[in-house]
Amino acid sequence: PSSGPAAAAAGAERTPPAGLSIRPPAQYLSAGPTPFQLPFHLTSFSYSPSRELLLDDARKDEALAYYREPPLGSDLNYGFEQAVWRDGSVDEGLDALLETLSSWARKNAGPAADDLLSKISVITWRGMLTKLMLAVYEADNVANGRRADGWEMNAMVVDGCLYLEESNPPAKLTAKSASELSNALPSYYGYSFESYCTTAGPSSSATSPAPAPPHSFHVPNTNVQWCSVVKTNLGGFRALVGGEVDCVRSDAPADARKVGTKDFVELKTNLVIQSQRDEVNFERLKLLKHYVQSFLLGVPRITVGFRTRAGELAALQHFNTLEIPRLVRGKPHAWDPAACLASAKELLAFLHAQIKAHEATQRAEAALADACDLEDAGMREWPVFRVSFDPAKRLVS
Ligand code: A3P
Ligand code: MG
Ligand code: MG
Repeated sequence: PSSGPAAAAAGAERTPPAGLSIRPPAQYLSAGPTPFQLPFHLTSFSYSPSRELLLDDARKDEALAYYREPPLGSDLNYGFEQAVWRDGSVDEGLDALLETLSSWARKNAGPAADDLLSKISVITWRGMLTKLMLAVYEADNVANGRRADGWEMNAMVVDGCLYLEESNPPAKLTAKSASELSNALPSYYGYSFESYCTTAGPSSSATSPAPAPPHSFHVPNTNVQWCSVVKTNLGGFRALVGGEVDCVRSDAPADARKVGTKDFVELKTNLVIQSQRDEVNFERLKLLKHYVQSFLLGVPRITVGFRTRAGELAALQHFNTLEIPRLVRGKPHAWDPAACLASAKELLAFLHAQIKAHEATQRAEAALADACDLEDAGMREWPVFRVSFDPAKRLVS
């Protein structure tokens, strides 16, 4: 949605002048908890090995995988030369999510679906909400001399609903691609771990380890994904959120149509923890990210594979997502999900308000563009805003 002749001609990508200051985490805790509705699995879709979007009933769950316990000692380097990598230079935007929702709305046409869709005020990928939720601790990282990640997104409001997608200008895609190439092996370990941990159907027992490769191993193809679209509500903002689910429990229903968020499993790899410092960093940075990412899609279980630098799977640990905050509570490096939720709610309210405030200007410009006889009226009416977060300035603008 960020491109198109009219968008360019009307100079539609712009930054609202006002910014929102992200406060220190503690300041978000005084207002009481921010309600969050347990995500409900509304529908699903798959990407094929050639990155084809699969939406029809016969194929939409083709990429659904089931957990099975990987053998300790597995070599995560296995299959590296044969792996198929997704083309990272393609900016997919929100297309797959929106096509999936359109397809769902067609299949479920009726008053209930209309009612649900009419009340939605946020549509985005889980990754974007994760970034909103983590901003408060990224700003905190800078304040405490640690490295931190900023971000840029594109935002539109159409009929009262905020659409958020990652901003991927060509230079950023090129840089991302280069970094992926140079980090191919550690990144491969993540995908290879997924391969050792999954099968195409429910396995007889999660505790009977898979046989050694090549029998148990399917060569990773990073095009292939199974995604869930959930309905949730963050602080009053009803949201439809899409995200990849690595696999479901080994005892999840064999019929994909009966699978729900309670079955979802997130897989992660991490270097083996060898020191107090490693442990603190794991709890402070990794567990926070894993928790937020999984929490937003209602994923109740996270399985972490600890690996050596050389890529040998050394240990496994299963986490119940909702119990993770308790593991860090009271520690010097503790974080509190309540701060993430409260600041994300504030950010969503800010984006809605900012974009609404610019609506009058947008409409005036649209009228001007009309007068200039530009094509593509849809693009003119709903310009795209560039939203960026600078953790050093603690500012979203
Ligand atoms: P790990 O997270 O185990 O390292 P996800 O965990 O989100 O399902 O992602 C699966 C794997 O994709 C990751 O496994 C990692 O190998 C790779 N990956 C995901 N995000 C990445 C990023 N921003 N940079 C590099 N690799 C990434
Ligand atoms: Mg994944
Ligand atoms: Mg994963």
